[in-house]
Amino acid sequence: MRASARSLALLCPLFCRPRGCPLLCAPDSPSISPTAGATRSRFGQHQGGRSLGKKKKIRHHVNPLKDVHMQPLDLPERWPEEGAFTQPDLPLHVDIGCARGLFCLDLAAESSGSANVLGLEIRSALAEAAAEDARRLGVANAAFLPCNANVNLEAVLLRASRCGPLQSVSIQFPDPWFKARHKKRRVVQPELVETIARHLEPGGWLFFQTDVLDLAQDARDTIRQAAAGTLRDAREDAGDWAAPKPKPLACVSTERERSCAELQRPVYRAVFEKLPAGMPAGHERR
Ligand SMILES: C[S@@+](CC[C@H](N)C(=O)[O-])C[C@H]1O[C@@H](n2cnc3c(N)ncnc32)[C@H](O)[C@@H]1O
Repeated sequence: MRASARSLALLCPLFCRPRGCPLLCAPDSPSISPTAGATRSRFGQHQGGRSLGKKKKIRHHVNPLKDVHMQPLDLPERWPEEGAFTQPDLPLHVDIGCARGLFCLDLAAESSGSANVLGLEIRSALAEAAAEDARRLGVANAAFLPCNANVNLEAVLLRASRCGPLQSVSIQFPDPWFKARHKKRRVVQPELVETIARHLEPGGWLFFQTDVLDLAQDARDTIRQAAAGTLRDAREDAGDWAAPKPKPLACVSTERERSCAELQRPVYRAVFEKLPAGMPAGHERR
């Protein structure tokens, strides 16, 4: 059973279409199933890993609270009208912690003509390499910014709102700061959630996934509390991780997600929908 699911996963890109994949991405696939939605990148392996083809050593992960990562991003005056996307007015998807950017390139290719995809990455060399890949591969609806999302998301989304609406956000396998004393270094902080909740268009969504259950639970609790009344958890029970991936992501996987599928590791997923103003989220009392 596992072997056949894996072989389908390898075949999946052949069958993927913008509106979803008939094989693995059935809407009711349990989210914690390791193989659910784990598909290969249409761009293959990225060109150069942590070493960026031995040109530059990249740290495995960085402390986001260090001075150097706490600086505001200096956005060009005409961003994103110029220099980001060929059609800047399209709805926007933002991926926070995009690493080398393959997921963003795949999603952009799937969403060509209907959405733009913006990857934010604190390790600037990775974001720059991803931007270079987008140029080289001609993916004109993908862009990357080297920045600490916890410092710069508000400014980036404010600027982006001059063009298209914020349709969706993903936070996938963020750095695992396990220790309680390192909690402040985690990406999912109340301020970040409030920013996302404020900028998402009604009906827009936030998708979170990780393979670390404690972190998944902490992120989910933080999102529920910080965005109570604004974002509704797709699953009422905070211990239910079976929410299906949002349709546009059904056939697009991150690198970490693929490696979890290879290793048969469970993945914990949660989806939150932005409510129209004045509608109760329904889980504030739990
Ligand atoms: C474990 S990797 C996962 C990468 C990718 N999302 C995936 O699923 O394969 C987490 C990424 O988030 C980035 N990151 C961590 N904190 C960040 C922050 N505050 N702002 C932007 N990127 C961040 C890290 O540098 C790293 O590339």
